Amino acid sequence: MNKEKDIIILGIESSCDDTSASVIKNGYLLSNIIAGQKVHEIYGGVVPELASRAHQQNIIPVVDQAIKQAGVTNEDITAIAFTRGPGLLGSLLVGTSFAKGFSLATGIPMIEINHLQAHVLAHFIQEHNEPYDPPKFPFLCLLVSGGNSQIILVKDYLDMEVIGQTIDDAAGEAFDKCAKVMGLPYPGGPFVDKLAKEGNPDAFQFSKPRIANFDYSFSGLKTSFLYSLRDHLKENENFIEERKADLCASLQKTIIEILLDKLIKAAKETGIKEITVAGGVSANSGLRQALVETAGKYRWKMHIPKFAFTTDNAAMIAITGHFKYLKGEFIGMDAVPFARMDIRV
Ligand code: KG4
Repeated sequence: MNKEKDIIILGIESSCDDTSASVIKNGYLLSNIIAGQKVHEIYGGVVPELASRAHQQNIIPVVDQAIKQAGVTNEDITAIAFTRGPGLLGSLLVGTSFAKGFSLATGIPMIEINHLQAHVLAHFIQEHNEPYDPPKFPFLCLLVSGGNSQIILVKDYLDMEVIGQTIDDAAGEAFDKCAKVMGLPYPGGPFVDKLAKEGNPDAFQFSKPRIANFDYSFSGLKTSFLYSLRDHLKENENFIEERKADLCASLQKTIIEILLDKLIKAAKETGIKEITVAGGVSANSGLRQALVETAGKYRWKMHIPKFAFTTDNAAMIAITGHFKYLKGEFIGMDAVPFARMDIRV
């Protein structure tokens, strides 16, 4: 049986195309199993119906493996934390329904988790034999993923405010859509990152948005990229193949500049120098390097999470569950998933 002092949270994540389960004990990671879905690759993007079917196939083995690898039993688990949203409704339904079934069968209470809050709180996952230097409140988080580009003011574990966000595409979408027109596989972000290392970032200029406050926009960049390709292809049909590395390097440089301009502005205006980054795009090597350089220039304390905790994973769901458990925030069987969800919920 679970000793009273141990808080053991089972986290379940199924908001998009990764099925993941994790066990965290007293804030320390015991397991984090992630099953990706290759089925979407040939379509150049996530197909929602296929995603939910794959989640259904994966969820039981993934949870089983997470519990076994953690060396705990069902009776040891204090609470089940599951992603309630935002995300693809069909995908979220699988995780939510599984959490309910598991809770009904075992009597273990449930905690609903906001996926965006969880990305931010990934910085608080502790690992045995690993350094732990979490950000101090208040801090700013640049959350950049396939579905979001936001600047979040984090006042406490569960007290966050979005102070800037994209008004159209997310940064990850800009990477993926531009990669697609260059014929790169999906998701294109990591391929652009790799090719950019061999290219000249100043080879091409693409348009940057001019919008107010801390908000982002990436649709103009995407169009500018497309038009540039179209014009060059008229003169040279091998243009993309011949200049792929330069195109990737220039595209990546522009996306990083757009992201950093607003982050610098937000840091200046709020006076906050404790800065973090989260979400899949934070795996980008150019962005990581630029963040470190910018942090040096503006004397920020920069926190960049481990790669495994930047993309979708259940460890971040479990650690958020840990903090919600401490506040006694549980949810009942009437919980339904939300495709859209404010970060404050
Ligand atoms: O947070 P995440 O795993 O999930 C979703 O938002 O669905 O982010 C996925 C996004 C994709 O757009 C992917 O292309 C991008 O993160 N990404 C990258 C890199 N690794 C993943 N973008 C640029 N460079 C990378 N190295």
